[in-house]
Amino acid sequence: MLWVMQRKQKVLILLCFFLTLTSIVLRYSYHESSSMYYLNILHGWSDSTLPNKPCACEHCVSEAHTSPWFDERFNHSIRPLMSENTVLSEDTYIWWQMLQRAKDPANLTAVMKELFNIIPSKEMYLDWGASRCRKCAVIGNSGNLKGSSYGSQIDLNDFVFRMNRAITAGYEKDVGSKTTHHFMYPESAKHLQANTSLVLIPFKTLDLQWLVSALTTGNITQTYTRVLAKITASKDKILIINPTFFKYVDDNWLENRGGYPSTGFMTLIFAMHICDELNVYGFGANSEGNWHHYWENIGGGAFRQTGVHDGDYEYNITRTLSSIGKINFFKGT
Ligand SMILES: *[C@@H]1O[C@H](CO)[C@@H](O)[C@H](O)[C@H]1NC(C)=O
Ligand SMILES: *[C@@H]1O[C@H](CO)[C@@H](O)[C@H](O)[C@H]1NC(C)=O
Ligand SMILES: *[C@@H]1O[C@H](CO)[C@@H](O)[C@H](O)[C@H]1NC(C)=O
Ligand SMILES: *[C@@H]1O[C@H](CO)[C@@H](O)[C@H](O)[C@H]1NC(C)=O
Ligand SMILES: *[C@@H]1O[C@H](CO)[C@@H](O)[C@H](O)[C@H]1NC(C)=O
Repeated sequence: MLWVMQRKQKVLILLCFFLTLTSIVLRYSYHESSSMYYLNILHGWSDSTLPNKPCACEHCVSEAHTSPWFDERFNHSIRPLMSENTVLSEDTYIWWQMLQRAKDPANLTAVMKELFNIIPSKEMYLDWGASRCRKCAVIGNSGNLKGSSYGSQIDLNDFVFRMNRAITAGYEKDVGSKTTHHFMYPESAKHLQANTSLVLIPFKTLDLQWLVSALTTGNITQTYTRVLAKITASKDKILIINPTFFKYVDDNWLENRGGYPSTGFMTLIFAMHICDELNVYGFGANSEGNWHHYWENIGGGAFRQTGVHDGDYEYNITRTLSSIGKINFFKGT
């Protein structure tokens, strides 16, 4: 009898032990899920929109829901670069050929085929995601860089974008020495170092033909003005801006003001699409209101470069991007 009681007690004690353990485990897991529930209510998240940063930097330029103004304009699904598979809509093709009123343009499909036999045919920089933090500097050519001493901080960026006639030799202290990408069109072309990507902004089919020629026979020497017959650049690093992206910048960002976007503005919006953090230098006038290039010595006379861009509107957009924290704008001297 005693022996039986002992066994019953043992079973009871064991049962109690397991019940307690189970209730602790249950309580703990309940607590966890309910605190998540309250967190979600607090932040207005539903299950499908839990915080999901689009990049690994502190701030991500592409992050949505920080500014309605930005969200209305920015469209990450527009492909910035051309590849052998790029197809232009009829609208885009017509808009693009009208930019410089091209007469009798060559067969674009045939020209693209020839071009992408010489340069890489696959599309670059579609690698954005939660684990990437790519920091970029866009360097305009404004005289406000003179005496700025920005050089060393510019060179810390992963990508450094320069444009048109930009030079660094002799100006390293203010503008840096690194250039990963150089944006140009045939009429503003210059020779590049082997480790720099040439990024062509094409305004017409002839510009693509010029690139083919400049990398091979050199037989195109004239567009609407004289152009470099041959160019020194690494063929395996050449990139072409997609005319669809060009039109998107004009439609969404400039609302079709002015003739078409300037090289500086195109480069800025391009950078927003392929970078995560953006530092912008050398845009706008210097503190005396001069718009000269940093390598030029222009006394007092202020000038705006050309009549085909709405410089004030572009500058306003640039300052607005800065005021909503999408870019870090360095205003120079
Ligand atoms: C973004 O661009 C894609 C491709 O052109 C288009 O289908 C989509 O409607 C655009 N999104 C917005 C919000 O405008
Ligand atoms: C353009 O070139 C492509 C490929 O070379 C060819 O298939 C097409 O028929 C051409 N189009 C015209 C309008 O000539
Ligand atoms: C690119 O090449 C130039 C000249 O050869 C060199 O001075 C520079 O350090 C290189 N830059 C990078 C980022 O590799
Ligand atoms: C340049 O050469 C290419 C191929 O060799 C030819 O198709 C084209 O018509 C030439 N262009 C000029 C302007 O001579
Ligand atoms: C841009 O222009 C608008 C309208 O003219 C003005 O209200 C706004 O303050 C300007 N923004 C900047 C940053 O200059």
